[in-house]
Order: sequence, then structure tokens, then C-alpha cells
Amino acid sequence: MTERWSPESWRSKPVQQVPDYPDQKALAEVEAQLATFPPLVFAGEARNLKKSLARVAAGEAFLLQGGDCAESFAEHGANNIRDFFRVLLQMAVVMTYAGAVPVVKVGRIAGQFAKPRSSPTEKIDGVELPSYRGDIVNDTAFTPEARIPNPHRQLDAYRQSAATLNLLRAFATGGFANLGSVHQWMLGFVKDSPQSRRYKELADRISEALNFMRACGLDLESHPELRATDFYTSHEALLLGYEQAFTRVDSTTGDWYATSGHFIWIGDRTRQLDHGHVEYFRGIKNPIGLKCGPSLKPDELLKLIDILNPDNEPGRLTLISRFGADKVGDHLPNLIRAVQREGRKVVWSCDPMHGNTITSTSGYKTRPFDRIIAEVRAFFAVHAAEGTHAGGIHLEMTGQDVTECIGGARAITDEDLNDRYHTVCDPRLNAEQSIDMAFLIAELLKQQRGGKSAPMPAVAGF
Ligand code: TRP
Ligand code: MN
Repeated sequence: MTERWSPESWRSKPVQQVPDYPDQKALAEVEAQLATFPPLVFAGEARNLKKSLARVAAGEAFLLQGGDCAESFAEHGANNIRDFFRVLLQMAVVMTYAGAVPVVKVGRIAGQFAKPRSSPTEKIDGVELPSYRGDIVNDTAFTPEARIPNPHRQLDAYRQSAATLNLLRAFATGGFANLGSVHQWMLGFVKDSPQSRRYKELADRISEALNFMRACGLDLESHPELRATDFYTSHEALLLGYEQAFTRVDSTTGDWYATSGHFIWIGDRTRQLDHGHVEYFRGIKNPIGLKCGPSLKPDELLKLIDILNPDNEPGRLTLISRFGADKVGDHLPNLIRAVQREGRKVVWSCDPMHGNTITSTSGYKTRPFDRIIAEVRAFFAVHAAEGTHAGGIHLEMTGQDVTECIGGARAITDEDLNDRYHTVCDPRLNAEQSIDMAFLIAELLKQQRGGKSAPMPAVAGF
């Protein structure tokens, strides 16, 4: 019954969120050129990630996925990448230590450029222009020229992704991620903030443990598992022409893989059963994600799972729920029950960002930190009640000291938003809020495991 799949079979289906490229010939030329470029990732790496995610699905590991809402051409600096990676490592180490489970580290980075929009146009002071769809499509500036979708931007996005990934690989394996550097990752932090104190205490314990092992005669340098970490990339595979160009056959297995990133996901706006995105995703062997919002019904989810993971392979499919703090209880239990009833193996991950977006009185798009926290807590509580495993977290975050989400330990207020509101798309957790989040999750992971893990340094506020 299933129709034949090919990297371009999505083209015969309806596709949502397609940019209106005026120059179709130029678009075709760019796509043809991209198809000749080296892949960004290898199939074997995607398979390793899938194996790690299978452990998450089995309740033996936790997924930490985070990064910008949208990467930007203007902010492609080494410091930006380093600061992001450093905070992600800090979060991972906090969660690994307290949860006593491996943390699978996945960035929304090195390819996270295309954005779905709720409206094809944007109106300011009576002027209507095409919406900004991410730097891979057009420019944020509100001028008619800037908003014209330009296919050549896909070449720039590819080159930026390659450069970003190159640095991340160097960081992950070249010494930066060495557990012996656990104190150095604190460097970017405001001294004596509650987060830095709490983190330092944890880092001290890890150093002590390492020193103890060294004194016992263990040569720590000869253990790659202490010196390096596995880091993976991910993005929403929205722009299917670009994705098709990087869809390649793995010579060792003969299978098709998306090589634009290790893990790609389908957005909540493009998950129609008979549309192009679902068609594209069903044919590639990468681990994939599916965003699940309040409009997703349990029977529709099961149909999607049938298409996207027909062999019920653990680690293949991560369901990323994004309901909003007060809707988790209404929606998540029904989805979990349907999946459990049918015996489907999935990773359950929580995106506490997208369901909790509001417009502040000052007019900024923001997210209250306490709502974000509330969704995470509700997510863990529902899984505890259903007897399933809260498997992961999906965050929009940055290593920079931005003021985009209100609240948190430093209590960013509506008036503060104007100070350092830098995102080109949705509001992100800043570095301190991200560390706060990691400690909260560590606490919840510990509860999930029945409190069997190492004691956590206590701090006021949690
Ligand atoms: N390799 C292990 C891991 O990735 C331990 C580790 C090394 C680690 N460097 C790390 C853990 C940095 C967290 C952060 O889990
Ligand atoms: Mn977003």
C-alpha cells in the first residue's frame, strides 16, 4: 500500500510554510549546487545518536536538547558558540551528576535557520511585507528588498553550519569538554551569583572524586570518556528543498540519511499526515523528532507513529510536547496512554518554551520563567503518574546574558526586556536561567529515580 519513497517524493504532496521564491531558476541552481557539497554529518554518527536515544526511551538516559530559536548570520561569532557550548556542558554535568544517568547532548545549532510563521505577511504601520522566515530564507530588516526570499542564503547557511559544527567538534573532543575542566566552564559567569555558587559546589565534588581516582592510581588522561563528550546537532527540517539536497545514501548500509544534521524534527505546524514534511521524514533513517501541540489528537499521533516509525525502533522517534504549563494535564496523559496501549517505543521530551509565549505590556514577545518551570514540573508529574519515563528537555537558550524571558533568580522584569533583547525570533533562556533549569531538572530526575543518586548542593529558591 505504501507508495515509493524518494528524497523528492515530498514534492508531489501539499507542503506548508514554503517561501515564495520569485526566481525559481536560481532556486533550482542553488539546490543542485548544494547537492554536490560535502555532507555535514555522517550516517554512523546519526546511528550512534539513535542508539543513545534508545537508552533514553528505555529510561536509562536523559536527552538535553537546546539552542537558539533561530541562528543568525549576524551573530556567527566564535564566542557565541563557545558560550553556548559551555553552558550546555554545565547543564549536562549538573544533570549527569545528580540524576546519575548519562545525558545525551544535542544542540539546536549548525543548521537551525528556517522558521515557520503563523502569517505569511507582517504589517507595521500600515505597510505589509512578507514575514521573516529565518536567515536561510530572507532578512529581518523590514524593507521590501530584505524580505524577498533569496535562495543564495541557503549557501551561506550551509557554510555557517559547517564552520559552527567544525568548532563544536573541536570543543567536544579536543580538550574543552574534559571533565577536569569542570571549574573553567564557570568563567563566563557573574561571580557570586546563586547559580555560580551552586555550580561551584558541585564542580568541587566532581574534582574531588577525580582526584580520589587519580590518587588510587587511575590515569584519567587515558580515559576518553572523561576527556571528551559526544555532541550532536539538530534543527527543524522545514525547508525541504535544502534538506533534499543533503539527503544522501549511506554507502555502508544503502539507507538514506539526512546529512544536514544528526537529528531533525517536524514542527507542530507541518505535521499533517498526508503532507510533504511527513513524507520526507518517513524515508530517512536518522533519529527524528515530532513536535506535539494541543491540537494533536491521540489517534492522529498513532497514525503519525505508524508512518514515521513503522518498525517500532526505539530511539528513532522523539515526541516533543509543547502544550503550555496549564494544558499539560489536559493533553499529555491521553497521548501517553495511547502510545502505551499500542506498545510504541518513543522518547518523551518536553519543550516548555513554545506553549508559554506571551506579549509583555512593553510589547516584547517573552516567556515567564515560572511558567516554563511549571510546564517542566507538570511534564515530570504526568510521567510519574502514568508510570512512564520523562526522557528529555528541549530548550531555547543561549550562553549570553540576554534579557528575553522574564523572571528567574535575577528576576528580569518587563522593563528589563529592553536592555538586552537580542533574539531574531523567540525569547531564550539566558545562561543563568539555563543553569537554574538544569538544577531543577536534576532534582526531578533524582525524584524519578527514587532519590537513589548523589545528594545535591542545596540552594534557596528550589
Ligand atoms: N563522556 C561523558 C559524557 O559525555 C562524561 C563527560 C565528559 C561529560 N565531559 C563532559 C559530561 C562534560 C558532561 C559534560 O557524559
Ligand atoms: Mn522558537
